[in-house]
Amino acid sequence: MRDLSMIAAALAERKPGHSLPQLLYNSPEAYEFDLEAIFGQSWILAGFACEIPRPRGYLALTIGRSPVVITRDRDGAFRAFFNSCRHRGAQVCPDGPGGKARLTCPYHQWVYGLDGRLVHAQNMQPSFRPDEHGLKPIHVEEVAGALFVSLAETPPAFDRFRADLEPLLAPHRLNEAKLAHQNTLVEKGNWKLVMENARECYHCAVGHPELALTFPIAEAKGGQFAKEGDPRHAAFDARLAAAGLAKGPFLGPWWQVERFPLKEGQVSLTMDGRPAVTKLMIAGDDPDVGSLRWAIEPHSFCHSTADTTVYFSAMPTATGETVVTCKWLVHQDAVEGVDYDVERLTALWNITNQQDRDLVELNQRGVNSLGYTPGPYCEDGEDYVIRFVDWYCDKAEKFIAARTGSDTGIGTSIDWRPTAMDVLPAAIGTAVSPAPGLAAVPSEIGLALAFAADVSTAAGAEQRPDAS
Ligand code: FES
Ligand SMILES: [Fe+2]
Repeated sequence: MRDLSMIAAALAERKPGHSLPQLLYNSPEAYEFDLEAIFGQSWILAGFACEIPRPRGYLALTIGRSPVVITRDRDGAFRAFFNSCRHRGAQVCPDGPGGKARLTCPYHQWVYGLDGRLVHAQNMQPSFRPDEHGLKPIHVEEVAGALFVSLAETPPAFDRFRADLEPLLAPHRLNEAKLAHQNTLVEKGNWKLVMENARECYHCAVGHPELALTFPIAEAKGGQFAKEGDPRHAAFDARLAAAGLAKGPFLGPWWQVERFPLKEGQVSLTMDGRPAVTKLMIAGDDPDVGSLRWAIEPHSFCHSTADTTVYFSAMPTATGETVVTCKWLVHQDAVEGVDYDVERLTALWNITNQQDRDLVELNQRGVNSLGYTPGPYCEDGEDYVIRFVDWYCDKAEKFIAARTGSDTGIGTSIDWRPTAMDVLPAAIGTAVSPAPGLAAVPSEIGLALAFAADVSTAAGAEQRPDAS
């Protein structure tokens, strides 16, 4: 039994337009709450279809403290499960990809099929029922080669997000991509500070001199990004039309999707603005198509330029610790050392992520102070941070209300451990395979999207007060 009153009280005292009350950034209670109420109830961008070896294989990762595994069978169907053995709970597959047709628990060698069924358990008693001990399914969706999972029994509505993302992402042909590089960064800061930092470019001019060469930091704020009447944007639109690329923007309750031009004369998010990969992900041979930024709450953003897709994911691992995972995808036919160089491909985001880690850590140290008071966000430069914290608070309040049966949850104690999912409908945990698409480069920058059109109002989707 956990006491939700502390979190509820912090949410109640939160001042809109301001950074959050201290305990939401540095208390063990908030960490535990966020794993369940936020990461346990959202869609997570787990990785990419191209990371799962064919014809049969899996990709395992850990969400909070829950290991999960996405499998792909020879027919291309994706399924996803809690990666916990139904014998005594051991993690079955190590995190990362694997090319297995069967999943064998390393502890006592129980064996599961890629469909989650238990197919072998040695020396068990006659009364044992293997069909009652399959891996527990979780939800999985595939969009243009990107794989999303949710631990929630009833995840947020997905259809409108798919409709927004798929047409913009598909031309990047993620299903014809390969993982060129992946790394992680341990940041001594709460995940919300990592994401707040990732949702704004108010700090970029001073904090990221290298990124500032290519990224239009002055425009990435205040809804000015897709400015009407700007001849530069008209030229950009003409290039996109010639390349058959849609621009958006699409802004949903928990997602943002928009293609935007880089600084004049720059065609990729690299140290020198030139493409890092000669074999392009998109069709055609003009790489000057800007970047497709696609981002979801609570944890991720991607940037897809013509030559590569970069993925950024922030995962809480302790009260004051977040692991940032970065991945770079390139066309599967691109040859390392010939068509691209990993150092050149990764240099800009590596230095940018390290700069951001330093900013997050100094942010956390100051937030921990007895003297910390929530301060006002810059409405122009931090509009996406405001969106993020509003989304967080709204989701947290709804979670508490659902658990307590009240509007606020203040003063209530209730067990909010995850609901057991011993038996889920067969449809859960399955997504039928491939679609085209390539993918994403992370942009921690809070690009300002025009709020005017395309604000998502999907039926059943989470609604946020500021969604329009
Ligand atoms: S815990 Fe997996 S076989 Fe025993
Ligand atoms: Fe940054």
